[in-house]
Amino acid sequence: MSTPSKTSGKLTTPDAGTIAIILAAGKGTRLKSDLAKVLHRAAGLPLLSHVLRSCDGLALDSSLVVLGYQSDDVRAVAAAHGARWVLQEPLGGTGHAVAAARTAAASSRFALVLPGDAPLITSDSLRMLLDAHLHNDAAATLLTAHLDSPAGYGRILRRHDGSVSAIIEEKSCTPEQLSIHEVNSGIYCFTLEKLWPCLEQLRPENSHRELYLTDAIALLDRKSFRVAAISCPPQEILGCNTRAELAAADHILRRRKIDALMDSGVTIYFPETVVADADVQAGQDTIIEPHAMLLGSTVIGARCRIAPGCVLQDASLADGVVLKPYTLVTSSRMDTASAAGPFAHLRDGARLDHEARAGNFVEIKNSRLGHGVKAMHLSYLGDASIGAKTNIGAGTITCNYDGKKKNSTAIGEGVFVGSGTELVAPVTIGSGAYIAAGSTITQDVPPNSLAIARARQEVKPGWAAARRSAGASPEIPANGSSFAVPGAPSTKPRPKKTSGSPKRRQKPPAP
Ligand code: UD1
Ligand code: CA
Repeated sequence: MSTPSKTSGKLTTPDAGTIAIILAAGKGTRLKSDLAKVLHRAAGLPLLSHVLRSCDGLALDSSLVVLGYQSDDVRAVAAAHGARWVLQEPLGGTGHAVAAARTAAASSRFALVLPGDAPLITSDSLRMLLDAHLHNDAAATLLTAHLDSPAGYGRILRRHDGSVSAIIEEKSCTPEQLSIHEVNSGIYCFTLEKLWPCLEQLRPENSHRELYLTDAIALLDRKSFRVAAISCPPQEILGCNTRAELAAADHILRRRKIDALMDSGVTIYFPETVVADADVQAGQDTIIEPHAMLLGSTVIGARCRIAPGCVLQDASLADGVVLKPYTLVTSSRMDTASAAGPFAHLRDGARLDHEARAGNFVEIKNSRLGHGVKAMHLSYLGDASIGAKTNIGAGTITCNYDGKKKNSTAIGEGVFVGSGTELVAPVTIGSGAYIAAGSTITQDVPPNSLAIARARQEVKPGWAAARRSAGASPEIPANGSSFAVPGAPSTKPRPKKTSGSPKRRQKPPAP
């Protein structure tokens, strides 16, 4: 087996057959970005990943990615797909990029050549292209599309008999050629032994001073080699040269995903408002309501209900999970029949066991709620483990951060944590214990005991009435129907200030 050279790497060994060469070296100037074009994401994945996946469906010998700008990062995407790579240095155009792959592609007879910035191409269209190439015994077969607005694409020149003679880049087109609606997708199949000599003959005679792969078509034609062409649906060839095209590709990919989910038995209401990334999965009879966002590697089981406005990023939901409106679940796991929301936030390794529930305005981070645990209102639970059937009262807070590090809280099974409790970590609450409402717990609580950690209440009979009769607010209005809000301006007209000595307010009796 050959070892990777300085400018190329191998994860698999190619044999004589068909490979894919994916051109991914360019910067993407028109995106006006510091990020390489093929690393921009559509439907949650880098553009390059979509192209590599469409090739995966074809059982080719291998895929070879041409790297250049930000090559380390682009190589990482290629490697994640098991693709090989080759470095193009310097960046001299699409013809130069294919030539850079020559050594690495040496033993292959045919190559599918694809741009790394066209993520909508399907395996079906690529298979059709490959079949047409082999069937026609062609030197090159072009994948073309007929666009209503062909601006930005190379145009296909055909003779009267329909045969292809050349591809002309838009900038070189005559006004007459600009009106041609058949465009070059940038996707081709080549018979490599016929292509390589033509690449050597390319000249940078264009405004960019680059070697254009498109010029190889006229060269092949001039040598009387057969150039064939087939068409695919216009939508599949969209290249992401601009932010607007990127947004359009993202929209189409996510719409495809929504359609696939519905086909597989998921109900999606107002599907045009729901956003789903390419890798999202959802089980049968799950219901997804408007404006949900299902992102990253999110997996949703069967018979779940995702209410409006929920955002799931890399979430894992088992069967029968209910998310109420506006719940956010990131990198967290929910077991069967657990529930969260409305307005709950599960993040960074939160886990709800079977039938556990996190309610209104509850945030859970890196914590596990055991079977049937309820934390229904206004709580923060961070770095905590909570045993089965424990009840977390409204407003409970685990004080997990001491200013330097995160500390954990362990709560046993069947614990009752009263409302408004603060648990100052590290702290352990034994199973079956009771925590009185409003406690600030700083020490471990043994099982089955009661902990009260709050000031004892004092009652002073008549204090408030005495205060009022001394003229202090709050006042009881004449009709006695409601109290004035302390601190709010009085509704009574204020007596006009006189120049004489003002009557001093009397203090209420000391408490
Ligand atoms: C190219 C075609 C055009 C076609 C369009 C379809 C040429 C000259 N033009 O134009 O006919 O209609 O695609 O989308 O081929 N790349 C490299 N190395 C380079 C230059 C580019 O790897 O030196 C890569 C880019 O990263 C990109 C792909 O090749 O992924 C295509 O390059 P791009 O600049 O986007 O070509 P277009 O102008 O879109
Ligand atoms: Ca392009």
